[in-house]
Amino acid sequence: GVPGPLGAVPALAVAAAMSVFVTRRIPAEGLRVLSQASGCRVQQWDSEEPVPRAELLAGVAGTRGLLCLLSDRIDREVLDAAGPGLKVISTLSVGFDHLALDEIKKRGIRVGYTPDVLTDATAELSVALLLSACRRLPEAAEQVKSGGWTTWKPLWMCGHGLSDSTVGIVGLGRIGQAVARRLKPFGVRKFLYTGSGPKPESAAEFGAEFVPLTRLAEESDFVVVTCALTPATQGMCNKDFFGRMKKTSVFVNTSRGAVVNQEDLYEALAQGQIAAAGLDVTTPEPLPTDHPLLSLRNCVILPHIGSATYATRSAMAVLAAKNLLAGLRGEPMPHELQL
Ligand code: NDP
Ligand code: DGY
Repeated sequence: GVPGPLGAVPALAVAAAMSVFVTRRIPAEGLRVLSQASGCRVQQWDSEEPVPRAELLAGVAGTRGLLCLLSDRIDREVLDAAGPGLKVISTLSVGFDHLALDEIKKRGIRVGYTPDVLTDATAELSVALLLSACRRLPEAAEQVKSGGWTTWKPLWMCGHGLSDSTVGIVGLGRIGQAVARRLKPFGVRKFLYTGSGPKPESAAEFGAEFVPLTRLAEESDFVVVTCALTPATQGMCNKDFFGRMKKTSVFVNTSRGAVVNQEDLYEALAQGQIAAAGLDVTTPEPLPTDHPLLSLRNCVILPHIGSATYATRSAMAVLAAKNLLAGLRGEPMPHELQL
């Protein structure tokens, strides 16, 4: 067994047909689904902090199911440590860039994930972050505390608003569409989007126009990145991209930190090439507290809280647990990733 916070489970029990390893403390509703399933033996790293790599490798040994988080890198080493008995991986996330899918597929392991249940919460946070960045909320709130607020000043603390703006969505998927839906009533004049190809059915609701990434950068007053992290999107928001943006434009990323070249973003913000940025995701996570981006007044950074509402995290945990159980039973999962 694993000497984790919950202690060890007898080896024989772990070897049972429905043995699962859960890599973190998760919302109780999700754990309950697992512990109430007949024949399911749960072993868990019952901590708020990530499972140390050595404990992860020991914990997966001999299990049939793994419930993991986006902070767990599930690669060949973990799969080898698990052994041939591992049949299902269920991630408590919609993103799956932390999973070595080629290797997983090769071994015939099924994967569950959590789309839809977090779309609203993440879109809501994306809008909150966009407004925080463009209307300078953290900076303004700080002025109140520090005594910088001396009187009402016509030229003070002005930012950029959404009225009559052009918004560019990078990745008009579930979350991208939910962001556009929420932004439209703010008076957005035009939506642009980019991705692997036009999606007329998704775009119709917003009258959104499919454009190349370069044109999206050039014409958008607000760029919102909601795509998946893939080899094609890694480092996509780089010097060339920021160089094409307007000096008055605002950049928001709620996808994955690695979509952005952070050195290039820093330069763009520091030199006034773009007006402001809001990031919910960074590289690495957590971002070191002495990172240059944190020294900028025009950059709002949040600690990857897109899906962090109580209801959403609970729904994610229940869905992840149901995916895992269905996979272990050889049944269709509520949400299975097609490999
Ligand atoms: P979807 O799969 O519905 O959307 C992803 C979008 O990415 C698709 O529309 C796809 O467009 C687009 N995309 C793929 N390749 C490219 C490309 N080369 N250029 C531009 N766009 C591209 O996923 P969700 O909307 O549910 O989630 C999106 C991502 O958001 C997740 O993968 C995850 O990383 C992140 N996320 C972050 C959260 C947070 O807490 N900040 C919370 C939840 C998710 P196309 O169909 O045209 O290929
Ligand atoms: C995801 O699900 O991919 C997010 O990053 C966390 O909810």
